[in-house]
Amino acid sequence: MTSSFIVAIDGPAASGKGTLARRLAATLGFAHLDTGALYRAVGLTLLRTGHAPDDAVAAVAAAQGLDATTVLPMMNDPALRQDAVAVAASKVSVVPEVRAALLDFQRNFANHPPEGAKGAVLDGRDVGTVVCPDAPAKLYVTADVEVRARRRLSELRNTGAEAIYEAVLEDMKVRDARDSQRAVAPLKPAVDAFLLDTSMMDAEQAFVAATDFIRSRPAFPGFL
Ligand code: DC
Repeated sequence: MTSSFIVAIDGPAASGKGTLARRLAATLGFAHLDTGALYRAVGLTLLRTGHAPDDAVAAVAAAQGLDATTVLPMMNDPALRQDAVAVAASKVSVVPEVRAALLDFQRNFANHPPEGAKGAVLDGRDVGTVVCPDAPAKLYVTADVEVRARRRLSELRNTGAEAIYEAVLEDMKVRDARDSQRAVAPLKPAVDAFLLDTSMMDAEQAFVAATDFIRSRPAFPGFL
């Protein structure tokens, strides 16, 4: 049993779910966990130790070596945001034992958010379907792949990186396919998720729609 109000947000890369999750958590006074960062931490560990990102044995060892004391300080490491790390994360995330090793950490965070927060916002690919299937508020945030590729392109250019739209779009399609076609915990909306297509929305509109949905959940008033 948990008394924490859990907001589960899933969706593909560059759908806007991370920005939305951070803002919701800040507004509600809830803790926030970017679950993709855990997979990125595993991917980064492999790259830093000279292992190939598809070395499943090394990936499982890296995932099993992560706990609150090692992973939380890594969460703000800018290296986690590199494209090579995103690709490595997508590769390690197909390994069932990697997923299993990261599950307890995510559930524990959701059910017992740090610093006495009354709730937690977790964003990722399988939060509403696997990690927290009983979450009272689930959202699936998506957008057309071309829109997501354009968003990603401007993020990359803002950091000074040179990037070509066609290459970003192709990478996005490959990652979408790997995330949604893997055997274990594939990316898909939970049956009871609120679908939020942000193709034609800005961040503000997405935030308003998500907030309205969360406030409408029957369990929510007790957490105000
Ligand atoms: O959201 P992101 O781009 O930081 O995620 C990086 C990769 O991690 C993504 O391609 C798939 C994997 N991932 C996952 O399998 N399950 C999650 N809950 C979150 C991310």
